[in-house]
Amino acid sequence: MKRIAAWCVATALLLGCGEDAVPQGENYGNLLESPAGLVLVPEEHPAGWGRADCFFCHPPHKLHLVNRTGIPDLDLPFIRSVVRNQGEASCAQCHGDNGVGQ
Ligand code: HEC
Ligand code: HEC
Repeated sequence: MKRIAAWCVATALLLGCGEDAVPQGENYGNLLESPAGLVLVPEEHPAGWGRADCFFCHPPHKLHLVNRTGIPDLDLPFIRSVVRNQGEASCAQCHGDNGVGQ
């Protein structure tokens, strides 16, 4: 019993125990609904504006897991592979420079 509980706690940290087994990752709704779309602007990114260390707050394995844009052929596996290969250097291609270097 104790062992199962420990397993559950360990799994809950990764997946959530029992419910929500499919990882949803981070969720800020449909990014395309805001005026600037995918591109970050200070108003929409008060906590992270001007920072280049994206992974500090957005661990890569939690990104681009669920399509919330309504674009039927959005290629999330492709986006994940770009992030995997190019790391934090990739973000600006799609999300703008986040005020870095301004
Ligand atoms: C200090 C933490 C932090 C850092 C560093 C950070 N962010 Fe964020 N980011 C957030 C938070 C918190 C949100 C939720 C919106 C908000 O309150 O700013 C967010 C939201 C977003 C969103 C969704 C925006 C929307 O329109 O809702 C994107 C895309 C994003 N961040 C990308 C990035 C990229 C790319 C970088 C690096 C260039 C970065 N973030 C760096 C904390 C951070
Ligand atoms: C090839 C384009 C592309 C690249 C590169 C890219 N993103 Fe995204 N990102 C998107 C799209 C499109 C969405 C909207 C995803 C959705 O709704 O499925 C998104 C969504 C997000 C979100 C909102 C939460 C989520 O997962 O939907 C965050 C946070 C984010 N990106 C951060 C980053 C960071 C940090 C990087 C760099 C490490 C990065 N992105 C690189 C296109 C990209």
